[in-house]
Amino acid sequence: MDTYLYRSKLFLLSILFLVLLTASLSSLQPLCHDDERSTLLQFKDSFILNKSAFVSAYPSAYPKVASWSLEGGNSDCCSWDGVDCNEDTGHVIGLDLSSSFLYGSINSNNSLFHLLQLQRLNLADNHFNDSQIPFGIGNLLRLTYLNLSYSVFSGKIPLELSHLNKLSSIDLSLNYGLYTLSDLRSLVQNFTTLEELLLPNINFSSSIPESLANLSSLATLDLEYCELHGEFPTRIFQLPNLRDLKIRGNPNLTGHLPEFHLGNPLKVLSITQTSFFDSVRSIPLSLSNLTQLTYLDLSRNTLTGHISSSFFANLTQLTFLDLSYNKLGGTLEFDMFLKIKSLSVLRLSSNNLTLLTKANSNDTLPQFHTLGLGSCKLRKFPDFLRSQNKLSWLDLGGNNLEGLVPRWMYNASRESLHTIILSNNFLIGFEQSLVVLPWSNLTSLSLDNNRLQGSLPIPPPSIRVYQVQRNLIREMSPLICNLSSLYYLDLSYNNLSGMLHPCLGNFSSHLSVLQLRSNNFRGTIPKTWAKRSRLSKIDLSENQLQGQLPRSMANCMMLEYLNVSNNQINGAFPSWLVCNLSSLEVLDLSYNNLSGKLHPCLGNLSSPLSVLQLRSNNIRGTIPKTWAMGNNLTMIDLSQNQFQGQLPRSMANCLMLEYLHVGNNQIIDTFPFWLGTLSRLKVLVLRSNAFQGSIKSFEINDTFTELHIIDLSRNNFSGNLPTEYFRHWNAMNVVGANELKYMEVNSRRDGFGSSIQCTITITNKGTTLKYEKILDVFRVIDLSGNRFDGDIPELVGSLKGLHSLNLSNNALTGYILPSLGNLTNLESMDLSQNKLFGEIPAQLTQLFSLEYFNVSNNRLTGAIPRGSQFYTFQSNSFGGNPGLCGSPLSKKCGDFNYTPTPPYPFEENQSSSSPFEFGWKVVAIGYGCGFVIGVVIGKIVITRKYGWFVKIFGKM
Ligand SMILES: *[C@@H]1O[C@H](CO)[C@@H](O)[C@H](O)[C@H]1NC(C)=O
Ligand SMILES: *[C@@H]1O[C@H](CO)[C@@H](O)[C@H](O)[C@H]1NC(C)=O
Ligand SMILES: *[C@@H]1O[C@H](CO)[C@@H](O)[C@H](O)[C@H]1NC(C)=O
Ligand SMILES: *[C@@H]1O[C@H](CO)[C@@H](O)[C@H](O)[C@H]1NC(C)=O
Repeated sequence: MDTYLYRSKLFLLSILFLVLLTASLSSLQPLCHDDERSTLLQFKDSFILNKSAFVSAYPSAYPKVASWSLEGGNSDCCSWDGVDCNEDTGHVIGLDLSSSFLYGSINSNNSLFHLLQLQRLNLADNHFNDSQIPFGIGNLLRLTYLNLSYSVFSGKIPLELSHLNKLSSIDLSLNYGLYTLSDLRSLVQNFTTLEELLLPNINFSSSIPESLANLSSLATLDLEYCELHGEFPTRIFQLPNLRDLKIRGNPNLTGHLPEFHLGNPLKVLSITQTSFFDSVRSIPLSLSNLTQLTYLDLSRNTLTGHISSSFFANLTQLTFLDLSYNKLGGTLEFDMFLKIKSLSVLRLSSNNLTLLTKANSNDTLPQFHTLGLGSCKLRKFPDFLRSQNKLSWLDLGGNNLEGLVPRWMYNASRESLHTIILSNNFLIGFEQSLVVLPWSNLTSLSLDNNRLQGSLPIPPPSIRVYQVQRNLIREMSPLICNLSSLYYLDLSYNNLSGMLHPCLGNFSSHLSVLQLRSNNFRGTIPKTWAKRSRLSKIDLSENQLQGQLPRSMANCMMLEYLNVSNNQINGAFPSWLVCNLSSLEVLDLSYNNLSGKLHPCLGNLSSPLSVLQLRSNNIRGTIPKTWAMGNNLTMIDLSQNQFQGQLPRSMANCLMLEYLHVGNNQIIDTFPFWLGTLSRLKVLVLRSNAFQGSIKSFEINDTFTELHIIDLSRNNFSGNLPTEYFRHWNAMNVVGANELKYMEVNSRRDGFGSSIQCTITITNKGTTLKYEKILDVFRVIDLSGNRFDGDIPELVGSLKGLHSLNLSNNALTGYILPSLGNLTNLESMDLSQNKLFGEIPAQLTQLFSLEYFNVSNNRLTGAIPRGSQFYTFQSNSFGGNPGLCGSPLSKKCGDFNYTPTPPYPFEENQSSSSPFEFGWKVVAIGYGCGFVIGVVIGKIVITRKYGWFVKIFGKM
């Protein structure tokens, strides 16, 4: 008994002792320092805890500083949330306030920078309201860990950051507004023990210092989208601890991959959108030695070569593999991905691969999240998709899928699929016709360019982007009106007919882009356009819509692009529309029956209107007098109307103007030399008006220097050809770049990259052709159908970029200059119906591109030269010149000793360099109109050089 009592006493005593010991030990741990406590409280008070500013906060986010308070007697700041103190000294050495709903600016006086003992600072995922990273941070010399990612910092990074020479980890990612004036070298040169360097999206505009390759502890390097240039130090790839390397999105960064050996620890490798592979063409096979890789992005590098299964044999850890947009060839067995169990993102689209999908649904394939199998020559929907249940993004575009979308596809990833791309196949419909397509969370569906027939498939109400361009759809169910999340709808180029459904004007407050171009819609445009409309782009062109534009369209206050061209819209020109819509950038009402006059507001717009196309209507009256300074107009097309009076001089205020077409009106004026100051003007067409007088040359140095196309035909201009102007038309002298680029005007904010097309229709010899696109290199001078007299100036021979020269139907005299043989790009030359005399110079046979040539009805004499293109011209090119002889004319030159007219007197000068011969740079272009130049060219090329024609003009 005693023993028992004794034992239990001892037990109690020892418990007591333990309790006391613990109590005394805990009282040994120092409480936090008073000054640091008040510093922390001040820090807390400098922010608002504003949850509403954090739309996309991490789920784990909560306001850590909310618990920082003296109330409740908790004055030991070391026990506060997110605060870490040194156990011996009680100093605050760590602050983790990530995802804490901190909102507000932070500046260098902030109390935080008094915590000089701080070693770890994490402020990630807060909102510092675009304040700069405070230079005070340079005081915290003991910092080893600094995380300011995703916190809405912007502005200049303080150089003081480089004082923190104990840093082993710095993360400034996901801030987007950060930049630095110093280069990367001076920022990182003090960081000698760095393990993690994450500075993506910061504009450095510098090269990567070789010294980074000395950081032997470096494990993570993220310099994506930093505008880095120069050579990437190859030694960095061989750093013994480097696991994450991301340098994507530095297009001017060059470098090359080393030979990778087994045992290299790289897990993440992202080097796409750099110039790394500019010289290396084939895929670097030693990547197959990187057995630790989980993430490999080699997309968009024009890599060639074949990849075989053995390339992936050891890459069993991959979760992300993107090889899309290269030129990889060969046949790939999909089975090879069976072994890569963790693979969840696989993109192979847009290569030259042939994908064999033997795998059937019984094989346990990885469960993919993203599958890009576009352009993989698939002939049917791969069977393995049946067992994919987590798929969110699926691209099967550009394959050879034909027939119906199989019924089993309805079950594949029914809940998880968000995006399906089936464009550019040969699909005709869906196997089981359902009222609504079954993927219940679908947000984006692209069926562009298939052969879908009948009724428009209706996606579920979650759909946001729906693209069904270029199919054979005939009907649209009113169920379309239920798609209340729709943001982008494109049904262009189908066979839809009937009236436009009235709901289109107001059914979805999200709808931003509505494209119904080129269908057979008839009747009037819906009457009601909602006030809350977010429509920014409406394209109803190429239908058979009638009646007037409804006034309620002025409710679409966010409208940037409106195209109703090629319909039968009538009524007065809708000034209320143009004058009220303050966002409008592109207005195309061409080819309708609009009448009335233009409102003066047009020239005085506050809107950013940049493209105004009113071609082929019945608008009359004068062109508005006042065109305000500072307008954004780049393209004005008023052609084929009934405008009268003069061209207003204030049009010279349209400083952005690149394209001006007022042809086929009744304008009476002299040559608008005052437009010569518009330094961007590329196209000037005054054709078929009543312009008159001689074109005087003024002593202005730079006038019309950018002109690519000038058409003054069918007016009453007289006097000599404008020699001095020829001297200034610098752009005419540019010999075409090889790069095939179309003239384009891009609508600035249309995030869908559409460019504006304008069409110039030129009528020549009764043939009218209209083209959609034209190459930017195209250069044209058309002065035909006027009363110009005198000689063809020598200077014309130096406009080397010229593709078409038309001086026909004037009263020109003198010789055809041998120097015209220098216009080696010329495809069309028309000098007919003048009073030219002398011989056709043999030099013209050097014009190997010449497709059309006409010197008929002049006073030319002598033998028609023979050679190259001249063999292809018919007799009507030469007729009406009684003195001409030789093939193709029936008149033989005979064997009599024919004395040619003296050659052009200055012939010996022809090879001397003209003032234009130095290298004019090809001028970058930025506008978009497809139009036609000379029929001539069109016609001839169609028959003889179809391929070239398609390149120049695009498919019609
Ligand atoms: C490196 O750090 C020291 C302080 O430790 C500082 O004086 C020096 O200016 C820093 N170098 C740069 C380039 O900032
Ligand atoms: C790349 O270099 C070109 C020419 O040197 C320059 O125009 C361009 O802005 C640079 N791009 C970037 C992203 O640095
Ligand atoms: C992989 O590395 C070994 C040495 O570890 C090397 O011999 C081999 O050539 C490398 N493989 C390739 C495909 O480069
Ligand atoms: C895969 O790795 C093993 C060593 O782990 C090596 O022997 C083999 O050659 C590698 N296979 C390929 C295809 O690189």
